[in-house]
Amino acid sequence: MEHISVLLNEVIDFFQYLDLPEDKIVADFTLGGGGHSEAILQRFKNVKIVAFDKDQFAIDYSQKRLEAYKDRIQFIHSDFSNFDDFIDYKFDGAILDLGISSFHIDDKSRGFSFDSDEPLDMRMDRSDASLSAADIVNNYKFAELQRIFKEFGEISRPNKVVNAIIDYRRSKRVETCRELSEIIRKNFFSNNRKINVATKFFQAIRIAVNDELGCIEKFLSKIFDFMNVGSRLQIISFHSLEDRIVKNSFKYQAADCVCPISVMRCCCNKVKKINILTKKPISPSESEIGRNKRSRSAKLRVAEIIV
Ligand SMILES: C[S@@+](CC[C@H](N)C(=O)[O-])C[C@H]1O[C@@H](n2cnc3c(N)ncnc32)[C@H](O)[C@@H]1O
Repeated sequence: MEHISVLLNEVIDFFQYLDLPEDKIVADFTLGGGGHSEAILQRFKNVKIVAFDKDQFAIDYSQKRLEAYKDRIQFIHSDFSNFDDFIDYKFDGAILDLGISSFHIDDKSRGFSFDSDEPLDMRMDRSDASLSAADIVNNYKFAELQRIFKEFGEISRPNKVVNAIIDYRRSKRVETCRELSEIIRKNFFSNNRKINVATKFFQAIRIAVNDELGCIEKFLSKIFDFMNVGSRLQIISFHSLEDRIVKNSFKYQAADCVCPISVMRCCCNKVKKINILTKKPISPSESEIGRNKRSRSAKLRVAEIIV
């Protein structure tokens, strides 16, 4: 199934200031299926794109899809948190559409889907052999698994599942996605019948395998120094853990003072770097959710760089 880009019209609307005769450079830090990049290239004739993805499949796929624009797009196979290894200039706009794409779910061999008999993998970057879902599930101790499920899955009582995983491991490794989802199904009760009980557990493992939150934090710690004045940074997140990091980072960058309340006179020298253009995050319309169920949890936050 093709990946349907989320909040596409909204993203284009926030980039309207790019409609200029001069050349502009936009970073697409999560290229995926190339949908956002394609729409930007189509709409803004003087924009060039620098596109990152840590998944080589996304790069290869989008390179073919965007062949017609090859003179206006550069592809970089890298984690977006390392973007400054490749860049020595500032961007006129940037977009991040976080998480995994439909390709990851649909290609069962990637090990993201509950009902597959493929090995537990879940790496976005298959050239990075350092950690897979199987490593976590089979090697991590009770406390580490418990922490991952609580922190990254926001599951308040994961212990029965953790014990069941550890029990299972005594006789055999947990090899496939289906084995893991069966263990979860037998040991976790959820009132929510619309969502597979394994969803939050799989999300937690995926976040840990790809260090998804660490990458966003590392990225946000430096991106504001690589954005031109007047440019906009747009970030689409899909769960509250990602969104909280983005919200707090924007709040910090938008503040002109971070002194404790007890201090009478400001002494922090904090510079306000951005205006937040989305006081509340933007969510997809009902009709978008109707067309693309995956968009239902999307939240778009946009910042405009002012210094
Ligand atoms: C939701 S998809 C993007 C879809 C894209 N905007 C489109 O319209 O087709 C997210 C993509 O970001 C990539 N990705 C996620 N985290 C990344 C990271 N830390 N560094 C680089 N790429 C990342 C994933 O591999 C995936 O291809």
